[in-house]
Amino acid sequence: MLAAVATSFNCVNAQEKKVDDLKRWEFSRDSINWEPVCIPHDWAIAGPFDKKWDLQRVAIVQNGETDATEKSGRSGALPWIGKGYYRTTVTLETLPQHAELLFDGAMSEPVVYINGKEAGRWAYGYNAFRVDCNPYLIEGENVINVCLKNVEESSRWYPGGGLYRPVKIITSPKIHFDMWGSYVRTVAADHHRAGIAISSKVVGMAPGSEKDLHVSAVLFDAEGKEVARKEDIRPNVDGDVSSSLIVSAPHLWSPETPYLYTLRLKLETPGGTDEQVLKVGIRTLSYSAERGFELNGKSRKFKGVCLHHDLGPLGAAVNRAALERQIRILKDMGCDAIRTSHNMPSTMQMEVCDSMGMMVMAESFDMWLYPKCKNGYARFFSDWADRDIENMVLNHRNHPSIVMWSVGNEIPEQWSAEGREISRRLQDICHRLDPSRPVTQGMDRAEDALNSGFAQVMDIPGFNYRVHKYDNNIKQLPQGFLLGCETASTISSRGVYKFPVVLTDHTDYPDGQCSSYDTEWCSWSNLPDEDFYMMDDRAWTIGQFVWTGFDYLGEPTPYDEYWPSRSSYFGICDLAGLPKDRYYLYRSQWNTSAHTIHLLPHWTWPGREGQVTPVYCYTDYPEAELFVNGVSQGRVRKLDRTDAGELSKKLLDRYRIRWNDVVYEPGELKVVVFDDKGEKAGEQVVHTAGKAATLKMSADRQMLRADGEDLVYVTISLEDKNGIEIPDATDLIAVSVSGAGTFRGICNGDATSLESFTQPQMHLFSGKLVVTLQAANQPGVVTLTVKDKTNRRIKPLTLSIPVRE
Ligand code: GAL
Repeated sequence: MLAAVATSFNCVNAQEKKVDDLKRWEFSRDSINWEPVCIPHDWAIAGPFDKKWDLQRVAIVQNGETDATEKSGRSGALPWIGKGYYRTTVTLETLPQHAELLFDGAMSEPVVYINGKEAGRWAYGYNAFRVDCNPYLIEGENVINVCLKNVEESSRWYPGGGLYRPVKIITSPKIHFDMWGSYVRTVAADHHRAGIAISSKVVGMAPGSEKDLHVSAVLFDAEGKEVARKEDIRPNVDGDVSSSLIVSAPHLWSPETPYLYTLRLKLETPGGTDEQVLKVGIRTLSYSAERGFELNGKSRKFKGVCLHHDLGPLGAAVNRAALERQIRILKDMGCDAIRTSHNMPSTMQMEVCDSMGMMVMAESFDMWLYPKCKNGYARFFSDWADRDIENMVLNHRNHPSIVMWSVGNEIPEQWSAEGREISRRLQDICHRLDPSRPVTQGMDRAEDALNSGFAQVMDIPGFNYRVHKYDNNIKQLPQGFLLGCETASTISSRGVYKFPVVLTDHTDYPDGQCSSYDTEWCSWSNLPDEDFYMMDDRAWTIGQFVWTGFDYLGEPTPYDEYWPSRSSYFGICDLAGLPKDRYYLYRSQWNTSAHTIHLLPHWTWPGREGQVTPVYCYTDYPEAELFVNGVSQGRVRKLDRTDAGELSKKLLDRYRIRWNDVVYEPGELKVVVFDDKGEKAGEQVVHTAGKAATLKMSADRQMLRADGEDLVYVTISLEDKNGIEIPDATDLIAVSVSGAGTFRGICNGDATSLESFTQPQMHLFSGKLVVTLQAANQPGVVTLTVKDKTNRRIKPLTLSIPVRE
């Protein structure tokens, strides 16, 4: 195989440490026709969508199904199945003394060849792995090939395909720090003093030569000022290094104060110098029956969401700006934690969580020995599980954002002694490599897991759904607390409202949508209100992770049998990242530093005049009065804690303010909210929209970095002549991009849309869509022009965004 992409990697001084991102590759699906690509790259996201890609005849057992039926869109209806090939060339002027490739994940079953010889392989597509290059490298051009294989029915969601996470080549002197050998943790900390323990591993030295090695550790604060130092630390005969630092008046890391220090570890050897630079967050964690979860000595409950790894229209290809946008949106909701369901996160995502302040449950597996889908990870578990857990922990253990590991999600083996022993074994591996964090997993069969002892062996017992069983579960748990590892799975489509409003676990509408009144769930799941209740009234709950923060590709439950549904309805935000109404329900409970007043539904219902159209208000305030065209619909107060009683319909009136009998008439809908003292605290007004008159664009960033990767997300909608947004517009919008950037993707959040994410036009869904632009490598201005192709009387609109060095 020949490589045509030259990645010039000039290793001038063979004894110097160097880390290079290998971004430019060629890609092929058949190893005949090649195209240049930049990685991270997802070969399947361009589609086209088609039922045939992932058509299955199965029973989804974990959803309680017993009979096999035809399922479509389960893994996104995109062409991710099959083989893919990547190749690049690395030119070396001199041979490095030590060289490794680091893959942050490759989807999937990667086999790596260097100069035609197999140099390494991995099985799981989500894990980071290392490849020792030295035996295969030559001076001059080196060809690297990666072959990937995705088999059908290997995933319960869209996995993507390809080199979807970064690949790096790292060269170092012969004697060097092992890449994953360094480990930094806070031993104790308060606002006066912190003690941090440092360990590291030196490799490549001859026996007896350790006496010639000198290691130093220097810690810098966020301004670059040195705050602690240790010199002349000596590795032992095995190359193990251990030391500690004391920091006075430390800035403690938390979601609210994500302060990061920088640790420079330096290794001086007679033949050269190696260095490792780590970001360090100083914080303490503890979990106990008495005080629940404590971060830096303060009890708090996780206000978390589960996230699948795809980034909607970007697919699985990881991108820092897209990850930052997700975290920004979640933080504004008051969310402080994510669960990387159900697999290892990318390093980039963990860096974003460290720097922006988001706690993380880093998960590993969706199955062990017993398959949940025919060709899932169960094929690999026996041979690979221990190595997979090791790589996850070694790769990620220095991220302060990670507050617990998870070794599994709804593992079928919950009922058995075998399952209990596997739990223990995997948990022990985590403890051995990282004694600073506890281990959990999500259990969905509470009785089985409690009878077998599966739940009792975990540091943190995590339960999925079935909140009504928590009261019973806790009695059997020696830990004395429990976590809502996965909660809610309420379903809704942004901006879609169904009448009459019903509370149901059997959603089935002809249009393949779910109602945004947030009253629909699945047979195993529940509404957010029930989880709030358990978190508020049960001291022994340590928080929850809602399924899910964002819609994701695949798993279109409750429309698993309905074509063309191809993405989820569970998200608090839709696939385009736009908040659904539910976002504001969570925000009203979770964001304690800003107020929330949100009315639903929209108020443009031609044809509904005179019909009952319930109105809900999501707010942190206790009381509100609603007006339709100035006529009061009554002042309603949320039920008090004590009023809510058992889990029942009544519960909806504890966290939402509802007017169930409002009769629709066009005009003005206004809510006035009142504080605890009964005084007016704010209001929100919604108007009936007229005819579409103008396009509107709003960008989530005002400036981009000229790095070829930065992104801006622009939301497009239509307004009437008075500036009222048209909530039900479905116009076809065409976009074009010029200047210092390119079109990267488009998405409207409609789970039933078959329009491509990578073609520059799409219909509005519930009045909106989002365009993603990517910055060029050169500074300048990127310009987006949008046209309404349905209504040509509406003038095109242009938006310009500066792109700076
Ligand atoms: C859970 C499962 C998730 C997702 C969810 C949908 O049982 O852990 O992966 O399938 O159900 O409600």
